Amino acid sequence: MSKMIYILNGPNLNLLGKREPEIYGHDTLADVETNCAEAGKRPGLSVKLLQSNHEGELVEMIHDARENAAGIIINPAAYSHTSVAILDALNTFEGPVLEVHISNIHKREAFRHHSYVSARADGVIAGFGVNGYALAMQHMGTLLA
Ligand code: DQA
Repeated sequence: MSKMIYILNGPNLNLLGKREPEIYGHDTLADVETNCAEAGKRPGLSVKLLQSNHEGELVEMIHDARENAAGIIINPAAYSHTSVAILDALNTFEGPVLEVHISNIHKREAFRHHSYVSARADGVIAGFGVNGYALAMQHMGTLLA
């Protein structure tokens, strides 16, 4: 049976493809889901992609992952830089957690350089565009093999 990976996305990522395309590109979250499903085939992983603009909803998605997912790939978006609640929720999850940022947060404004989530993440990908999600899927396959 395939292992389930939750791909969680924070605020404003519902607008991916339309939002600041010079920074985040033209692909949408639907494209990300398709690419991740493809990347998961060989290692036997299935994906559920979720997005919320609300911090508490993201916390609840992580609680749901505790029961239903083997691993989490998360782009917490702006909450990366502010949310102890999301960090605490991730600390209750026992499987691997990979953090993805589409842009290279270290090349941008100073307030984006720190991510609370990185204190829990088993790996971080930043600046690989939306391809970072598929790369994270590939690594998830290695971690869960
Ligand atoms: C982001 C980077 C964050 O600083 C920003 O708030 C986002 C997206 C990224 O994917 O590059 O919304 O997480």
